[in-house]
Amino acid sequence: MTENGRERTNNATLLKWVDDWAKICQPDAIHWCDGSQDEYDALCEEMVQSGTLVRLNPEKRPNSYLARSHPSDVARVENRTFICTEREEDAGPTNNWVEPAEMRSALRAQFDGCMKGRTMYVIPFSMGPIGSPIAYNAIQLTDSPYVVVHQRIMTRMGQAVLDVIGDEGYFVPCVHSVGAPLEPGQQDVAWPCAESIDDKYIVHFPETREIMSYGSGYGGNALLGKKCLALRIASAMAKEEGWFAEHMLILGLESPAGEKTYVGAAFPSACGKTNLAMIQPPEGMKDWKTFTVGDDIAWIKPDAEGNLRAINPENGFFGVAPGTSYDSNPMAMQSMSANTIFTNCVLTDDGDIWWEGMGPAPAHGIDWQGNDWTPDSGRPGAHPNARFTAPASQCPTIDPAWEDPAGVPISAFLFGGRLANTFPLVYEAYDWNAGVFMAATMGSEATAAAIGQEAIRRDPFAMLPFMGYNMADYWGYWITWGQRTDVKLPKIFRVNWFRKDADGKFIWPGFGQNLRVLEWIVGRVHGTKDAVDGPFGRMPTYEDLNWDQLDFSADQFAGITDISREGALAEAAEVAEYFTKFGARLPSELETERQALEDRAKAAPEVWSTRDA
Ligand code: GTP
Ligand code: SPV
Ligand code: MN
Repeated sequence: MTENGRERTNNATLLKWVDDWAKICQPDAIHWCDGSQDEYDALCEEMVQSGTLVRLNPEKRPNSYLARSHPSDVARVENRTFICTEREEDAGPTNNWVEPAEMRSALRAQFDGCMKGRTMYVIPFSMGPIGSPIAYNAIQLTDSPYVVVHQRIMTRMGQAVLDVIGDEGYFVPCVHSVGAPLEPGQQDVAWPCAESIDDKYIVHFPETREIMSYGSGYGGNALLGKKCLALRIASAMAKEEGWFAEHMLILGLESPAGEKTYVGAAFPSACGKTNLAMIQPPEGMKDWKTFTVGDDIAWIKPDAEGNLRAINPENGFFGVAPGTSYDSNPMAMQSMSANTIFTNCVLTDDGDIWWEGMGPAPAHGIDWQGNDWTPDSGRPGAHPNARFTAPASQCPTIDPAWEDPAGVPISAFLFGGRLANTFPLVYEAYDWNAGVFMAATMGSEATAAAIGQEAIRRDPFAMLPFMGYNMADYWGYWITWGQRTDVKLPKIFRVNWFRKDADGKFIWPGFGQNLRVLEWIVGRVHGTKDAVDGPFGRMPTYEDLNWDQLDFSADQFAGITDISREGALAEAAEVAEYFTKFGARLPSELETERQALEDRAKAAPEVWSTRDA
């Protein structure tokens, strides 16, 4: 069955692997993807014919499509995501674990005949620029043409990757099926998937670097280069090889003096990475320039001079659609002006798309489930986790160095969740270990990016759903970097755009105004901005931030920077409880930091304020 594969590669391991899986999955045909525009266009046209895609109005949205997923398949499935290490303790208390042999046999049964009536696509792809020393090559098998066209946007995909892998080269094997075989004569549906959650499996074998995904066609469940490879498997590779794979955007900031500083920022899913990655200077700060390198994932390695250099392993954006507008994120809007695939958005009567928060609602449209919709339908038209898939190269602020295989030098790490209370707008860690502590204990409120997530949870490093090994070992790995003298360590900050007032309204205007916080952070990196010592960390006073053309009073500032002793003590106590989960694997440095937080909180006034410091 690999006949046409033999024209594309002489890699015997690869050919045999494809052959073996074809025997198990029993597809009607095998298609080796070349990654060309013609192939992409033909697959999109096939999906338009089959009803999977709707072609959008070419005058409004050239070369763009809308897909509607099955209502059971709208986000990542965290409780069906598994890390299968030989020993359970190596997956750790935050991951779902199944013994590898047991999982392999369960999957073997699921994959048996799962591609009947379908084509198996062989997708060669690279995470990172093709052939770059930091990139990894992979092959994904899939029976979803929707996944193929996504991979062409989200990764570097096609023949060039097979050529780099060559006859002997390494690739990460990724096997994916939507889990919906067709009996002879059976009519296909627009969005095939395994409808029962128990039949979905997102499985990782970090020790052998393998990925198997069954039953879902959506996002991170199915685009296996993204969360599965570039985060879960890569986190395990990174620890072994001495680098970092992080759920971080990468942003370049050029000051009015022309000095460029790059930051990496880790926020949980749907908490503003795409927004910050494409931030536009607000009125009063138009002499700053901003540059986008990546919006979701960073691979970070030290160079010979000891700088931590980051690359974006992806080639596109798979961004949250609702809430995105010319006001909140004009660069994202421009990135998706053409050549974009939309999923679970509203189809307007003029053949364009719409979602909540984009601007005035159309009088009528078709909602994400394919039903007639009007603004007074009493239900959202777009799914809250609706997404756009757009080439990164279409972003007007894309950094000239975004594809530089050497990466960009990172001077600061930011961590931030959605927290309505207690946590201030920004604070700087007292030192490296304090920074690791603040990242490890980060919390955030639930969003639509995952199914079945509790209201508030700890999301260490924004990596909770994406860790490929024991979380406590990951913290320990970060701690070891603090002892390195050969590396220029970035400063570490926590930020929180989401503090609310008594009426439940966000106090901080956020979005472009976040550049005021970034300006202070950049100043701290270069030693040009002051700070005061607070219970959580070092903070700016009102006078330390630039308020040019923003009407935000010292009292309002106090509303997002005052720290209640009770709140800080409660945090220290909750962290103590949280840490017990990790037993002996918890690095002792983190308990030391927790104790230091408790001590600072005890010594603080009932309400600590930067005004009194
Ligand atoms: P994933 O792609 O899921 O990893 O998430 P992401 O972090 O890239 O999410 P994204 O940037 O798309 O987050 C969008 C959500 O964050 C929307 O609900 C925005 O309104 C909200 N958001 C982004 N920035 C801000 C901000 O500065 N303030 C407030 N209040 N909300 C913000
Ligand atoms: C996230 O949930 O963090 C995402 C979207 O970036 S997905 O690729 O579906 O995981
Ligand atoms: Mn993400």
